[in-house]
Amino acid sequence: MTDLTGRRALVTGASSGLGRHFAQVLAAAGAEVTVAARRADALAETVALVAAQGGTAMPVALDVTDTASVAAACGGAAYDIVINNAGIALDGPALKMPEEDWSRVIDTDLSGVFRVAQATAARMVAEKRGGSIVNVASIVGLRVAGNLSAYAAAKAGVVQLSKALALEWARHAIRVNALCPGYIETPLNSAFFAGEAGQALIRRIPQRRLGQMADLDGPLLLLASDAGAYMTGTAIAVDGGHLVSSL
Ligand SMILES: NC(=O)c1ccc[n+]([C@@H]2O[C@H](COP(=O)([O-])OP(=O)(O)OC[C@H]3O[C@@H](n4cnc5c(N)ncnc54)[C@H](OP(=O)(O)O)[C@@H]3O)[C@@H](O)[C@H]2O)c1
Repeated sequence: MTDLTGRRALVTGASSGLGRHFAQVLAAAGAEVTVAARRADALAETVALVAAQGGTAMPVALDVTDTASVAAACGGAAYDIVINNAGIALDGPALKMPEEDWSRVIDTDLSGVFRVAQATAARMVAEKRGGSIVNVASIVGLRVAGNLSAYAAAKAGVVQLSKALALEWARHAIRVNALCPGYIETPLNSAFFAGEAGQALIRRIPQRRLGQMADLDGPLLLLASDAGAYMTGTAIAVDGGHLVSSL
């Protein structure tokens, strides 16, 4: 039921971390994957990784903060599956956060999801083909953490946006869901988690471990494929129980 043969998928933010991994997972399930981000060299590495496992991936330049770039990247092809994964996290105390940082996070993490969802859904509607949109939010969109006000607000917005779009687009057979990862180890954050602060954080996760990227494979495929055909407007947390940590 999670076979994606014949499906076309777009993964934003596929030049590193979770997005690169998601591209590999979707390709391994049979999808033809378009990988999108700003850094062409890093995207080429993702394409090579997918090809090395026998899959098909094509790169496309995309800046989710730029409407023209989104139109160019999303207008050419109709996708069955869209993984809105591109995102940034700028941390720091709210009292000291420059408005520019606030705006950058909201523009990338929330407005960027809206732009890509709108552009890709327009094609799905025009071609009457339906589809599945998976918006990568975070457990920080469901509960808060210190010094992440803009990120938390943006990700909470992604959760609510996913529900609003699910409601509007169900009539077009488009499903929209939010995937809310907890703390997942990636090449960019593994040094932090190896240190004292990172280890203290891990002790607060009920399962006492970080998530690995592979922990997201099942939930991703569930939402992206026909296995989740009756699921829309949901927010699935994948967090080792972090959201239910003891008060
Ligand atoms: N890792 C975690 O523990 C965790 C937990 C919860 C949620 N998440 C979410 O998962 C997603 C991926 O996180 P990650 O840890 O894999 O981070 P990452 O390694 O920093 O990857 C972020 C990706 O987003 C892309 N990106 C950033 N700004 C962009 C823009 N303006 N236009 C297009 N692409 C842009 C980057 O590509 P370019 O720089 O090449 O454009 C990169 O491919 C994010 O939405 C993040 O909030 C991560």
